[in-house]
Amino acid sequence: MKTHHSHEAPSHRVGRGTQGSTGVARRTSAPSSRTASPGKAERKTAGEPALLTLPPLPYGEDALVPVISARTIGFHYGKHQKTYVDTLNELIGGTDFAGQPLEAIIEATARKADKAAIFNNAAQAWNHTFYWHCLTPIGGGEPEGALGEQLGSAFGGFDKFKKEFAETAVAQFGSGWAWLVAQGGRLKVIKTSNAETPFVDGQTPLLAIDVWEHAYYLDYQNRRVDYVNALIDKLLNWEFAAENFANV
Ligand SMILES: [Fe+2]
Repeated sequence: MKTHHSHEAPSHRVGRGTQGSTGVARRTSAPSSRTASPGKAERKTAGEPALLTLPPLPYGEDALVPVISARTIGFHYGKHQKTYVDTLNELIGGTDFAGQPLEAIIEATARKADKAAIFNNAAQAWNHTFYWHCLTPIGGGEPEGALGEQLGSAFGGFDKFKKEFAETAVAQFGSGWAWLVAQGGRLKVIKTSNAETPFVDGQTPLLAIDVWEHAYYLDYQNRRVDYVNALIDKLLNWEFAAENFANV
């Protein structure tokens, strides 16, 4: 697993069956952005590129209650992310992008005005799969090992990291994402707008918080700060972050 490039789909590096017994489905094979949905990825006819598919959630829709409701996950995953994937397939059908890996499509379309629709749907498909793996019902707490040490030295302590991560997520104006990334051996907290994703800038995502309103509005209405703090305190998957960090 450590031979993967840092920007490859998060689903390629997760799902080792380490999530415990709190309602999270154990998985021994990683969900792939291209193979997750039986039937859907099949070629319609010989020679036609396979469609990109919506990877399965790494847990049940109610696994993150009470921080995130099953209703929110149902809409967020089953409607919003599914629409990104379906729209992307429609946009790339019959083009050179058909059959390409999701990451390649994102890198090829980033900051190209005439490819914005493809980029937006592709990056949102990737960002959401990454986000689902950043959360776990047995999350929160404080990371140990190399990542814990790096966080302490980069931010002046874990509590200061948490504060900066939360403040960055709350400060993102409008739709977007807050990220913990590694770049050039340094850890940083950044925010991106809309579908923008850090790996196109050579930054390796370790964790993400979705701050689009669809991520929290059913549960928290306008209280983004409460969603962000609850997510950081109770759901962040530090094991996933450590795996990403180990692959930098
Ligand atoms: Fe979202």
